[in-house]
Amino acid sequence: MFVKSSASAGLLVALFSYASASPVLLKREPAAPANLVLSPAGNGGSDLKLATQDNFIWTHEDQGIYANLTVTANQGVRLLSALSFQNVVESVDCSSQDVTVKFDSATSLKAAQTAWAWVNQAPANTIIYIAEGDTCAGDSGRQPFSVESIAYDTTANTATLAATKAAWKSFAQDASIRISGTPATGTSARSVSKDVAIDVSHDFSGPIYSTTIDGVTLGISCSTCNTQGTLNADITLSLSDGFEASVTTSNSLGATFEVSLTASGGLSSPLSTNIPIFSTALAGFTIADVVTIGPQLQLVADASISSFTASATATVGVEATLPDGSGFTLGQGVNISPVIQAKGLGLSGQVSIAASIVPTATLQLAATFFDEGLVGGIALKAPQLTANFAGAASTAGETACGNSTAEVSVEIDAGVELDAFGGFGGATDEPNLTKIFSASTTLWKACLVV
Ligand SMILES: *[C@@H]1O[C@H](CO)[C@@H](O)[C@H](O)[C@H]1NC(C)=O
Ligand SMILES: *[C@@H]1O[C@H](CO)[C@@H](O)[C@H](O)[C@H]1NC(C)=O
Ligand SMILES: *[C@@H]1O[C@H](CO)[C@@H](O)[C@H](O)[C@H]1NC(C)=O
Repeated sequence: MFVKSSASAGLLVALFSYASASPVLLKREPAAPANLVLSPAGNGGSDLKLATQDNFIWTHEDQGIYANLTVTANQGVRLLSALSFQNVVESVDCSSQDVTVKFDSATSLKAAQTAWAWVNQAPANTIIYIAEGDTCAGDSGRQPFSVESIAYDTTANTATLAATKAAWKSFAQDASIRISGTPATGTSARSVSKDVAIDVSHDFSGPIYSTTIDGVTLGISCSTCNTQGTLNADITLSLSDGFEASVTTSNSLGATFEVSLTASGGLSSPLSTNIPIFSTALAGFTIADVVTIGPQLQLVADASISSFTASATATVGVEATLPDGSGFTLGQGVNISPVIQAKGLGLSGQVSIAASIVPTATLQLAATFFDEGLVGGIALKAPQLTANFAGAASTAGETACGNSTAEVSVEIDAGVELDAFGGFGGATDEPNLTKIFSASTTLWKACLVV
C-alpha cells in the first residue's frame, strides 16, 4: 500500500488491489509439515510424597529436543506423579474409571497410606495423579486424574483412587515449560547442550512484483533471493511471563537479495508499496494437551521509488548475514556486527533512478500452552537497500562524475536490522517488540561506466 503519494486515485487503487490479488505476490507453500510429537520421559523412584509443585519431562530423542514442565498446583490440590513411585508398584489397573495401584509389598502400601492420608481428611482436598503409559494415559502417554478419595485393601496390597480425567490447566496455578536441547549427559566428555534448531532457509528467486498503471511500468525481479541459516533457540513458555527465548545463530543466518528494478514511463511523485512475497509454515512441536508450537516464516518487502528518468533497469545485490554463534535474548539489545557483502551491480543505460527496498523476514513462533496463546520470534530486516543512480545528464550526476555522458554516479547503502518480540498473543501479534541491533554501510559510491 502507498504510504506517500500524490499520484492519481486510479494508480493508488490499482496498485493496492494488485498487491492483494496477484498470485505471483504471495507464494504460499503446501500444507504445514507435521509437528514433532514429544514423548513422556523421566526416571522412576519410590517417592510417595504429595507435592504442591512438580516437574515433568518430555523428549524427542531423534531431534535432541527436551522439555521440562514445572507446574504449581492450585490451592487445595496436591500433585502425585506415577513416575515418582513406580519402583514400589507392581501394576496399575485403569480398566474401570477408578485407578487401582497394586504395591510390591505391605510396607509400600502402608507408606502410601501415610503419605496420602491428606486427601481423605477433607472433601475439598484433591490429589492430581499423573498417570504414565499407554494403558492409563492413552496416546499422549501421560494423563492427569483428579482424585477425591482413596480406599486401601491391605490383603491385596492395593490402593483404589476415585479418579476422573483432568485437563492440565484445571489444576495449575502457574506453569512454565522450558524447551531446549538434550542436556549434557555423563561426567567424562563435556557434551554440548543443544538447542531447538529452526531452519529458516527458503529460496524465493523469481519475479516478485510488476505493474503498469497510468503510464508507469514498474517491475521488481529477484535473480538470487533467499533467506538462510539456523536459529538455535532455548524457549521458555510461562503462564506468568509469556514467551521467552534465548537464541544463537548458525549456518550464516541472513538473507541474500539480488534484485532488478525496472521502471519506465513518467513518475510524477514518489511511489511506495508493501509487497507480500511468501508465507510458509515450518515444522513445529507438540506435547500432548500441554503445548503446541507452530513456526511460520514470512517475507514482506517495502519498496519505494522516488525518481527515475527515461527507462531504467537497475540491478543491485546484497548478502547480509550474522556471524555464526551470534547470541541474543528476546527483548534485549546486543552488539552484533553483521557481514554485508555486495553481490552485483548494473544499470541498463544513461539514466537516473532513486529507489529503496527493505525485505523483512519474520519468524513467528506461535504457541498454545495450557490453552493460553503465547508468541515470540524475530524480524530480520536485511538487506535494507537504498540505491541512487544519477546519470550525467542530471545535476547530481554531473556534480559527482563530471560531464562524461558515459558515466553514472552510483551510491548503494545497505543496512541490517534485527528486531525480536515475545509475550502473550496470537499468530499475528508481535508483543514487546524490541530492536536487537541495527547496522548499515555504504556498499558502493562510485562513478560507473555504462
Ligand atoms: C526441570 O526444571 C526444574 C526447574 O527449573 C529444575 O529444578 C529441574 O532440575 C529440571 N529437571 C530436569 C530433569 O532437567
Ligand atoms: C559541464 O558542462 C557544463 C556546460 O557544458 C559546464 O557549465 C560545467 O562547468 C561542466 N561541468 C564540469 C564538472 O565539467
Ligand atoms: C512483555 O513481557 C513481559 C515479560 O517479560 C510480560 O510479563 C508481558 O506480559 C509482555 N507483554 C505482552 C503484551 O505480552
